[in-house]
Amino acid sequence: MKKKLFDKFAELFGNTDGTRFYFSPGRVNLIGEHTDYNGGHVFPCALTLGTYGAARMREDRLIHFYSMNLNSFGVVEASLDDLTNKKEYNWANYPLGVVWAFCEKGFVPDKGFDMVIWGNIPNGSGLSSSASLEVLTGVILRDLYGFDSLTMTDLALIGQFSENNFNGCNCGIMDQFAVAMGKKDNAIFLDTSTLNYEYAPIDLEDAKIIITNSKVKHSLVDSAYNDRRRECAEALEAMQKGMEIDSLGNLTPEEFESHKSLIQDPICLKRAKHAVYENQRTIDAVAALKAGDLTRFGELMNMSHVSLRDDYEVSCEEIDILVDLAWKIPGVIGSRITGGGFGGCTVSIVKNDAVDTFIESIGKAYKERVGHDAEFYTVDIGDGASRID
Ligand code: GLA
Repeated sequence: MKKKLFDKFAELFGNTDGTRFYFSPGRVNLIGEHTDYNGGHVFPCALTLGTYGAARMREDRLIHFYSMNLNSFGVVEASLDDLTNKKEYNWANYPLGVVWAFCEKGFVPDKGFDMVIWGNIPNGSGLSSSASLEVLTGVILRDLYGFDSLTMTDLALIGQFSENNFNGCNCGIMDQFAVAMGKKDNAIFLDTSTLNYEYAPIDLEDAKIIITNSKVKHSLVDSAYNDRRRECAEALEAMQKGMEIDSLGNLTPEEFESHKSLIQDPICLKRAKHAVYENQRTIDAVAALKAGDLTRFGELMNMSHVSLRDDYEVSCEEIDILVDLAWKIPGVIGSRITGGGFGGCTVSIVKNDAVDTFIESIGKAYKERVGHDAEFYTVDIGDGASRID
């Protein structure tokens, strides 16, 4: 991988003297969906799929970005003197947004840099290719300019800040945090209201985690996502009229039930119900995992899907087909939509001896019903972003 990137780097920028090499993973969330901007818990893990980057400081104030996945865009040139989102920058608005965010936070690079990337996270699949790229850029900037006081949590927050304010998606902290803080063979049990976290070892002796990519991405994802956020904020505001809470994540399901009449709008009520119960399911799922009760973990995953489908309404036909098919296969412990929704991927826990059947039978039935192939990846849980040479 390094050779491939360095060859391209040399071709574009003359040589690779002083060039450094980095990796930043994608992520999959096991449970705890759409809870992160509601002050609830999430339970993601970093993947071994991710984004590789080669980078070097320049002597002038120019910034060059090149993606080996998107060769047709060529080298995107920006400047430290004009850090604004431009349509023609396309994908490079993500790394550029991180440069902008560094400056906003007082970490101002005095020289530009060249950066070449290549990634193997399927685009638009809900496995956080953008957070991967944001945190990759953060790690690169910290390393190239010696901004050593920044922690990995800071880099996650800067990535989120850039996505919220430079790229217009009001995402929570889960993706950037998982990408920055991932640990091999562990999932991260994160309380998004405090950023306290705990690693939980995932050693499933007789089962595997399988991601199924529906290969659909419905349009307006960002706007639908921002709508959900707004509906939750409205629900919170309504509840705050009758009780003292900072976020929906403060509420137990019982407290929610006894105060939910404060929310008049039926849509906001459904959204809040999901946020509260999903938070509880996430806490329960981690407890079940620690107790070795994978069956319970799977049941909670399934309940999570139902809630995301019916109350939060972020699933879609193709994803529901994948999940329904998975639920019918003996040996499937749990299956649900993962990530922001409106397409993307499902995550399933499947007994080892059912994995072949899972892939073959779902693959066939999905193609028959939807008209194109699904893709399957067996999850290896990897480490968070870092320099790797
Ligand atoms: C996207 C966002 C995350 C989170 C998930 C849903 O991935 O980037 O912050 O809200 O959706 O759980």
